[in-house]
Amino acid sequence: MSGCDLALCDVALPDGRRTDIGFKTGKVVHIGAMEQADEIVRCHGMMLIPAATDMHVHMRGGTQAEKEDWHSGTMSAIAGGVTLVVDQPNTVPALTTPSHFTRRVKEAITDACCGFAINAGVVPGSDLSSLWTAGAMAFGELFAGPSSYGETLPAHDLSIALQKIRHMEGLATIHAEVVGPSNPITLVAHDFNRTPTGEADAVRKVCQINFSGCNLHFCHMSTGLAIDAIMEHRKQLTGLEHGLSNSSMAYRTSFEVTPHHLLLSNQDFLPGDTLAKVNPPLRDKNIQQGLWNMWDRIDVIASDHAPHTAIEKTVDFSDAPSGIPGVETMVPLLLAEVLRRKLSVSSLIEKVSRRPCEILGIPPAGFQPGERADFVLYPRETTRVDPGELHSRAGWSPFAGLPAIFPEMVIMEGRIVFQNGEFFNPGPRWYPGRGYDIVG
Ligand code: NCD
Repeated sequence: MSGCDLALCDVALPDGRRTDIGFKTGKVVHIGAMEQADEIVRCHGMMLIPAATDMHVHMRGGTQAEKEDWHSGTMSAIAGGVTLVVDQPNTVPALTTPSHFTRRVKEAITDACCGFAINAGVVPGSDLSSLWTAGAMAFGELFAGPSSYGETLPAHDLSIALQKIRHMEGLATIHAEVVGPSNPITLVAHDFNRTPTGEADAVRKVCQINFSGCNLHFCHMSTGLAIDAIMEHRKQLTGLEHGLSNSSMAYRTSFEVTPHHLLLSNQDFLPGDTLAKVNPPLRDKNIQQGLWNMWDRIDVIASDHAPHTAIEKTVDFSDAPSGIPGVETMVPLLLAEVLRRKLSVSSLIEKVSRRPCEILGIPPAGFQPGERADFVLYPRETTRVDPGELHSRAGWSPFAGLPAIFPEMVIMEGRIVFQNGEFFNPGPRWYPGRGYDIVG
């Protein structure tokens, strides 16, 4: 087979087979023995997997650029095997108007180093249809409970927003929590103030007020209880669908889980460690194990990359911003778990690459001819997370010292953009949502 821009020879596929793979104009064109291509890279049996799409990141920028910006955040993504990120709208200013949204897209086109999509924010009275035609990928995360960087959308306004989003056939992404009245000064107290029961109740409440049947995606589910609530709701929907000739209520619900809720517990840190303060909170080891037990049911793994600087976190617990960086460590940490046989590589690919694209309607990266040629080559040896080597401007990681497998090479749109720690002109590509109106 000739005519390829790039061929990777002797790669190990996720199922263990060794083969060659060829790319042309950003797509996979051939899989099987190859002799010719403009550039041939011999890979000696390193593992090749489709690059990840992280559907929940906060790339900051603007007045928050000391935490992160499009450049540092997307370099961090690439170095962690992520070639497409979905940015959340709780920026300063928040992306609740078409002009703020469009300015944000321009910033990303200038500074981002990988594929990106941007969600739109919702406040009472937002012009959702203009945000949709401006190219919003989805709406939210909509805060059903407050967070340090997000205002609650009252139930009535949330219900109206869901109705409008349903009308446009869009997707609403939800931050579901109930927040207690106390002012926690430890990680355990923070957990008690934003309880597992509260998370499950918030999920149920959002489902109850979704009268119009809008497609819902629940962000960063941290407990088996909340996942059970989603499963229960799905069962009710299926029952409803069977009983209805007109299946107008047959909407989709999906959810994501973060690596920090799977791999960390509040017992792993000193009681008042602000670096580990995040919403929803880290739970205890039992609840953490319960989340692992749900692995097969999880739709998506997303990082909720929420960078804050170590200095901003070095304040009293109650004043410290919630959120932790994680886009660069997401796949490497979970790949180390694959090597330890805790999960299969195919299930990991499904949750970090295939499913997020399916939920968002983005063409997936994959091995079939014609699929997006975004791939990552991983060595078979485990190292440990060293925060000094990460690219996020946050400069720290709660995963320091944990086993991880970092990419050796990253291919984006059929081109090598990262190899052995060096970047080779990675560039942006905007993935607007389905409502994008080029003329408008
Ligand atoms: C997020 C942030 O910092 O933007 N923080 C967090 O703890 N997850 C906002 C949020 O999702 O709550």
